[in-house]
Amino acid sequence: MKLLEGKTAIITGAARGIGKAIAIRFAQEGCNIAFTDLVMDENAQATENEIATFGVKVKGYASNAADFEDTHNVVNEIVKDFERIDILVNNAGITRDGLMMRMSEQQWDMVINVNLKSAFNFVHALTPVMMKQKSGSIINMSSVVGVHGNAGQANYSASKAGMIGLAKSISKELGSRGIRANAIAPGFIITEMTHQLSEEVRAEWAKQIPLKRGGTPEDVANTALYLASDLSSYVTGQVIQVDGGMNT
Ligand SMILES: NC(=O)c1ccc[n+]([C@@H]2O[C@H](COP(=O)([O-])OP(=O)(O)OC[C@H]3O[C@@H](n4cnc5c(N)ncnc54)[C@H](O)[C@@H]3O)[C@@H](O)[C@H]2O)c1
Repeated sequence: MKLLEGKTAIITGAARGIGKAIAIRFAQEGCNIAFTDLVMDENAQATENEIATFGVKVKGYASNAADFEDTHNVVNEIVKDFERIDILVNNAGITRDGLMMRMSEQQWDMVINVNLKSAFNFVHALTPVMMKQKSGSIINMSSVVGVHGNAGQANYSASKAGMIGLAKSISKELGSRGIRANAIAPGFIITEMTHQLSEEVRAEWAKQIPLKRGGTPEDVANTALYLASDLSSYVTGQVIQVDGGMNT
């Protein structure tokens, strides 16, 4: 029996990177996939085609996760298309790094809106659906810097700490309805997001990792699978660091 047979997941920002790896891992376990990203371009279409090869139902939706109304509209559309939603992965995220003194209001607002408000938007839109079903697993993509902080990433770290506070709070509010909520805090994962960093910075990060390698999107996807499935049926309000031992 596959771990997510017959279930449906919404994964935000899943055209590439960690979100895409989670969508593929879930699909391998029989999960139907509704994924969102800012645009449904060739890249997103290729992701949709790849997921379809696992024989599950899949559809990509163009949606800005930071936009409250847009999110409610897309969730309504997804519920019409898929009927039930068992899993929500709030994965969409961006960086706009800079030292606090030089950080613009726009840099702050963008990161908070895309990384944190987006999760509020999706949880707000989906809670009634999951409450009716009396079950659900919500996974917020945080980061080790949301746990420990990082110079030059005050906006990003604050947004990722917020993802932990949000998961912990809704785990308390929704536990009695059979809905679990947890956060994953990845360390240094090799994706296009971390390719924006200089080679020097990447080498410095790698040195600090006890397992002596950067993580892969699949490393994170396996943890997401655990939290999405009944393997973690008594786990809620937790943060799991997937960081090669870097920050523990
Ligand atoms: N890569 C890492 O080392 C790392 C570490 C810790 C946490 N994370 C978190 O994991 C998540 C995925 O990161 P990644 O490395 O795969 O990044 P990525 O940049 O490769 O992918 C992010 C995806 O989100 C989409 N997106 C951006 N803004 C959006 C919006 N407003 N609405 C919908 N989609 C939007 C992008 O188009 C992209 O497809 C992010 O939340 C990131 O903060 C990444």
